[in-house]
Amino acid sequence: MPVSLANKRILLGVTGGIAAYKSADLVRRLREAGADVQVVMTEGGKRFITPLTMQAVSGKPVRDSLLDPEAEAAMGHIELARWADLILVAPASANFIARLAQGMADDLLSTLCLATDAPIALAPAMNRLMWANEATRSNMQTLALRGVLAWGPGAGDQACGEVGEGRMLEPLELVAKVAGYFGNGLLSGRKVLITAGPTREPIDPVRYITNRSSGRMGFAVAEACAAAGAEVTLVAGPVSLPTPAGVLRLDVETAAQMHEVVITRAGEAEIFIATAAVADYRPQDCADAKIKKADESMSVALTRNADILADAASRFANLFTVGFAAETDQLQDYARGKLEKKGLDMVAANWVSDGRAFDREDNALWVCWSGGEQELPSAPKKVLARQLVELISQRIKEKHERQQHSRPGAQDAGQNTG
Ligand code: CTP
Repeated sequence: MPVSLANKRILLGVTGGIAAYKSADLVRRLREAGADVQVVMTEGGKRFITPLTMQAVSGKPVRDSLLDPEAEAAMGHIELARWADLILVAPASANFIARLAQGMADDLLSTLCLATDAPIALAPAMNRLMWANEATRSNMQTLALRGVLAWGPGAGDQACGEVGEGRMLEPLELVAKVAGYFGNGLLSGRKVLITAGPTREPIDPVRYITNRSSGRMGFAVAEACAAAGAEVTLVAGPVSLPTPAGVLRLDVETAAQMHEVVITRAGEAEIFIATAAVADYRPQDCADAKIKKADESMSVALTRNADILADAASRFANLFTVGFAAETDQLQDYARGKLEKKGLDMVAANWVSDGRAFDREDNALWVCWSGGEQELPSAPKKVLARQLVELISQRIKEKHERQQHSRPGAQDAGQNTG
């Protein structure tokens, strides 16, 4: 399938390194895939390839100055930072990486990186010893913790005559990374059902029991699935978040309502991702009128809610089920326990102690499945959601392959075609 980056706006940063000669080809390849590309060059970058070349291949004047009144009048740097769906710095020199890690804003490109809420990806390119140097290692680690993506470098012959790790990835490899990032077709045509947010269990007309949940992780997962080409239905508890583009949203309030919607829809879905923080219990009775205070203490009798995820997993054998686990301790043990107890295909677990996860833009996940696990380090929820989608798509492929092999006669059929 040809890669499509239609409607994607890529801000390509070109910094000072010999690999900059490949950036012109990179622009061409990105545009061939349908992307809109704006090139921003540092002073170093301009020493290796001319802005005129980059203008010719991108079809737009290159931006290179923070203090150019004419360019700023056309599209100010803050506007430019907002314009981008992705900032890709290729090549990213050791110097630029160091400046980014320090949070410098001393030229246009570094300022844009500070002012954007778009993801930033680096394609490092430098001498192998500079790449291996402790300073660069530590800068890359700092940036990874902030959710900055690193694509490459590759290993091989270097322009300086040495051989080792530090080569910028080839333009086509970078285009594939960009496409992969935007979830290009990873879940193409698949139907995905997602629950998100908390549920509210009424005690009386003005009071309820609920769980802490902003719904952000679930909404980010819905957005990432849609970007990956899936048909997404999002069953949302009460949250104040905008519906991601291309997603069908069904609002519910209680766990019982969420359960009903999920079970009605799960038969058509191939993937069910339960990110909702469902209340495990609800008040046994909901008073018709507001309860008036009287005694010094009062108790509310609670009754168990159905486990939506476990129920969907047991009723729909072909459904690929993904659960979330929020834990304050023994995270891996509890997550594995949930995988087995609920009969799931995957569990994504996160720590919720010390102010982590709740009401924050970033998070970290530890994902497990039968026979495997992967850590997704701290990153913005949108970045994590895309990484999770990648894992889900890989696991589904493997599950289907296993199912095909275990089907009676599958081996014979394979031999005939072989
Ligand atoms: N879940 C669900 N329906 C419920 C409860 C939970 O679908 N009634 C889903 C959540 O969306 C999440 C996973 O199950 O994907 C969480 O598992 P669970 O064992 O319920 O988590 P906790 O309530 O945190 O578990 P415990 O009470 O054992 O700590």
